[in-house]
Amino acid sequence: MTADPQNLPVASPIMAEPYRIKTVETLPITTRAHREKAIKEAGYNTFLLHSRDVYIDLLTDSGTNAMSDKQWSAMMSGDEAYAGSVSFDELKDAVEEIYGFPYVVPTHQGRGAEHLISKILIKEGQSVPGNMYFTTTRLHQELAGGTFVDIIVDEAHDPTNQNPFKGNVDLKKLQSLIDQVGPANIAYVNVAVTVNLAGGQPVSMQNLREVSELCRRHEIIVWSDATRLAENAFFIQEREEGYAGKSIREIVKEMMTHFDGCTMSGKKDCLVNIGGFLAMRDPSVFQRACELVVVYEGMPSYGGMAGRDMAAMAQGIHEMVDDDYIAHRIHQIRHLGNQLLAAGVPIVEPIGGHAVFLDAKRFLPHLTQEDLPAQSLAAELYLESGVRAMERGIVSAGRNKATGLNNAPKLELVRLTIPRRVYTDRHMDVVAASVIALYSRRDQIHGMTMVYEPPTLRFFTARFEPMA
Ligand code: F0G
Repeated sequence: MTADPQNLPVASPIMAEPYRIKTVETLPITTRAHREKAIKEAGYNTFLLHSRDVYIDLLTDSGTNAMSDKQWSAMMSGDEAYAGSVSFDELKDAVEEIYGFPYVVPTHQGRGAEHLISKILIKEGQSVPGNMYFTTTRLHQELAGGTFVDIIVDEAHDPTNQNPFKGNVDLKKLQSLIDQVGPANIAYVNVAVTVNLAGGQPVSMQNLREVSELCRRHEIIVWSDATRLAENAFFIQEREEGYAGKSIREIVKEMMTHFDGCTMSGKKDCLVNIGGFLAMRDPSVFQRACELVVVYEGMPSYGGMAGRDMAAMAQGIHEMVDDDYIAHRIHQIRHLGNQLLAAGVPIVEPIGGHAVFLDAKRFLPHLTQEDLPAQSLAAELYLESGVRAMERGIVSAGRNKATGLNNAPKLELVRLTIPRRVYTDRHMDVVAASVIALYSRRDQIHGMTMVYEPPTLRFFTARFEPMA
């Protein structure tokens, strides 16, 4: 649907899902005794639970999207040719039309694209500044010999700060890094829209413009982690002067003009279950990406994806910029978050684009960060109600590459991540009631100790035991 700024559904007091249900999937309803056994077997790590034991699954919005009837139709017409697939052409055209990048290399998911771009642009010892780290992004930068430097505004680390663009790059931090190491020692600047670990916080168009101007002046490449770009565009439309009358499609396109290229996890805003891509303007970067993708993923015309998955993603790219769809998506997240706020539950504010984040430090003030409050809270929420959430705190932050000590992030959060077009607002009511019940008995919640720690991306498979 094309946007009619005078008539956006966001203005109406009640908003229902702008789609109806065609296929249903039965949810497992479990007893507390069942959940006690399940979480113990999972080492108190919600990543290790079986989905058959989970009632409402808010672990992630990644690959958990419901596809539309048009996407399922596209799956049937997927062209599985090894080379020169029609579905690749559809994907390439969609990326060019909506993002504005002429060159595209499909990858199996976002981290596949991160792997390629890190290998292409990073030289040993270079800095890679970004607006807050993301787990897989930083790991690929480090594996390629780079060092991540956080240049997000300070407000991003404060869960109660109401700044409308808490994902912004702090230009002074970027300038001082340039002064300190010199532009030649900066591989590229990586700007995520939105910022996942800050709470799904957006970056303003003005900030993108300023970052790109500063980088161009110093001949530094600017890349985007565009994983949740449509959600970011909604916040620009809602909050930034001059954008209220523009459509999500127009805003997305303008956002991308400030970048040399992007990595994309299609599992988020592209509304599919698997896939991603690397897109760019520079033909020499494209050539290098084509050389590498055949080693690590597959032929440049499918990368890590089946033809049908590229076809579904091409259709999803068009659906992600539908103003009505994205307005309801953000509405649904606020429908959950506002109930928690009304009950006094500490969450990250403003409520972001893909999730509601519980602030575990304020939720469990009797625990220290070394007691793993977010890990404990996620396990307790599952026990309480069968709702699965994810730790995004000291466990996710891993260890410092040089010292081997725990990174202790200011934000110690539990993420209630909302899959796209999957649950109804009524499910959100159940989640809100469960979290509020837990909050009322918060002083009974104990900390955890880690009893198994894998060497990298430890949060995925680490195991824990409750403290007595
Ligand atoms: N960048 C951001 C901001 C992400 O949130 C993710 C994935 C990736 C890159 C990597 O993409 O999973 O397709 O390889 N985030 C998921 C999450 C895992 O649950 O937040 P991927």
